[in-house]
Amino acid sequence: MSNHQSYQGQTIEAVVQTIDDGLERLPTYMDLYFRWERQQWKVQDLDFTVDKAQWLAEMPDLMRQSRMAGYNGFYAGEIAVTDTLTPYIAAMPRLDQRVFLTTQVADEARHVVFFDRWFREVLGKDAAVVGDQMAKASEFMGSYYNFIFYKLLPEVADGLRRHPNDMNLLVEGVTLYMILIEGAMALAGQQRMLQLYKQMDIFPGFQEGFTDVARDESRHVLFGVRFLYDMVQSDNKYAYRIVDFINPLLPGLYDFGRPSPEFIPGMLKTGQDLDWTPKFYASALRRKLRAIGIQASIPEPTPTPIPAELQAMLAAN
Ligand SMILES: [Fe+2]
Ligand SMILES: [Fe+2]
Repeated sequence: MSNHQSYQGQTIEAVVQTIDDGLERLPTYMDLYFRWERQQWKVQDLDFTVDKAQWLAEMPDLMRQSRMAGYNGFYAGEIAVTDTLTPYIAAMPRLDQRVFLTTQVADEARHVVFFDRWFREVLGKDAAVVGDQMAKASEFMGSYYNFIFYKLLPEVADGLRRHPNDMNLLVEGVTLYMILIEGAMALAGQQRMLQLYKQMDIFPGFQEGFTDVARDESRHVLFGVRFLYDMVQSDNKYAYRIVDFINPLLPGLYDFGRPSPEFIPGMLKTGQDLDWTPKFYASALRRKLRAIGIQASIPEPTPTPIPAELQAMLAAN
């Protein structure tokens, strides 16, 4: 497929719209299962020929570095969520929930394979290096990322493995996995990367595959919202659990979404909003909480500080 959209003819905007529509009218677990049957795609069908040539072409170091950080973060993240999902299946009280999550495990594995192909065929990392990339991801991504993917997520999964009947823990786990990680962190990165590549008209194979990844994620997020909605309906105490779980994670999340200092001058020059990602997180979480049936305020992120010397430079220009 060489068209610059997914072979299912959807753009990232359409995928995001699917989530927004789902939040208005929550699908059932079986709706989401049948959606999965209809929305199959294959990593092996993607054509990375043009992408590879474009990656090998001259590219400023800073841009290369920034893109690599994004790929590393997503690749390591897909591995982490693949490795931690199975205890959620056993802990789900209903068969239709377990049936859906089984499809999600296959999706997450497919996302790992997608990035594996991208790293080997386009970025030119061989299989051995791919394993090492994961160790490297922790260097690239910083402490909040490591806390979420390498501490909190495995801790919750281990807890669920030991206590599959602990519904409080399952509610927290779904809040972390489907709402915070998939519904805020991943969705922001997906939308930003896909919009940028489309604007620049680059990486057609990646655009196609990553849009397919995002479409898979839209089902996962809606599953999480549906599950938490049902839990809150069953007992209001879960609403407090969810809010108490999210709140302490917010300051770190907003900081994680800020650009690193070296990218700030370029972003200001091209008129980009330094706070695009933290604002996206806040509004994504707000909309999901509302759909779950929770009245709670998610604070707006504070503006990203501009370093003093940069302020002086901007004032001089
Ligand atoms: Fe995924
Ligand atoms: Fe997912």
